[in-house]
Amino acid sequence: MSDVLALGLPSVTGEPGMPGRVDVYEVGPRDGLQAESRVVPAADKVRFVRELVAAGLGTVEATSFVSPRWVPQLADAAEVMSGLGDDLERHPVLVPNLKGLDRAVEAGARSVAVFVSATDTFARRNLGMDRDQALRTADEVVVAARALGLRVRGYVSMCFGDPWEGPVAAETVAEVSARLVQAGCAQVSLGDTIGVGTAGQVGRLVDAHASAGVGADLLALHFHDTYGQALANVHAGLLAGVTCFDSSAGGLGGCPFAGSATGNLATEDLLWMLAGLGIETGVDLPAVVAAGRRMCDLLGRPLSRVAAALT
Ligand code: HMG
Ligand code: MG
Repeated sequence: MSDVLALGLPSVTGEPGMPGRVDVYEVGPRDGLQAESRVVPAADKVRFVRELVAAGLGTVEATSFVSPRWVPQLADAAEVMSGLGDDLERHPVLVPNLKGLDRAVEAGARSVAVFVSATDTFARRNLGMDRDQALRTADEVVVAARALGLRVRGYVSMCFGDPWEGPVAAETVAEVSARLVQAGCAQVSLGDTIGVGTAGQVGRLVDAHASAGVGADLLALHFHDTYGQALANVHAGLLAGVTCFDSSAGGLGGCPFAGSATGNLATEDLLWMLAGLGIETGVDLPAVVAAGRRMCDLLGRPLSRVAAALT
């Protein structure tokens, strides 16, 4: 084994056309824990978030102010926020409607994320409303949140295919994203909710957004790794000019309302690839491995590929 590998880092070989730096947007405490059958105590969630911040992750999505009947795993959202203290700018939270926004603001949130679906069926299953109603609700929440001075991210789900409706046109996704940007979202994260996307689709989707007036600088990519395509898709996203990628420590994650969704792209796996390409992230890989391992152990889940390789 070479010295570099012995240190737990890949050897570095850059590639033309790649950015010098990317943002890793950590979703483990939210996406990672929302579909687990075991409810993690609030104190362990807070520790998880803090460990990820200490590892150098600039943004760690903390929880969701959704209906506790729909997602009991995150019913302790206010307790988690209070445990995190004052530095809440870096901890966005999901809000599905104005009630969620009120709860989030009361808990001290400074940054929120709305979420809609590119398809009608998933909007009904995930939000209990049709796609257009969900878009109108998101518009309302974005406007209200911006009026309060909050930063708002928009998520679009089922951007690469939907288990009930099949293929999803890139232009349809881009129209939804353009609407979120128009409403006031600072960034739109394109979700491959069930992990069916492949690399060629990524550039096509980014191009469709450019044609709809949404540049790559406004986009993030959010891959679930169901079919093992997430890293290939990130690579395609980098070449298309995207510089923000969502991932989850330990590769935890899924959506309770999309049965075929498995874990998110693991943060450890993403960091290994980015480090190998010489792309700066400011994140300490061993520290993320340690945080992910602790949560996987708590949940009785297998480690991510890179975490297992480094253990
Ligand atoms: P509903 O049951 O249709 O809501 O749920 P409702 O408006 O009819 O209200 C029913 C009750 O819920 C009322 O209480 C409301 O006050 C209450 P009652 O009068 O019966 O006592 N309620 C709330 N309570 C707390 N917080 C709220 C809230 N809203 C209403 N915010 C609702 C509609 C939108 C609330 C529900 O469908 C919901 O919470 N959905 C969220 C589902 C979710 O969290 N999904 C996972 C996140 S999205 C995701 O994972 C995808 C992503 O990762 C990207 C990707 O991978 O693609 C982001
Ligand atoms: Mg997700």
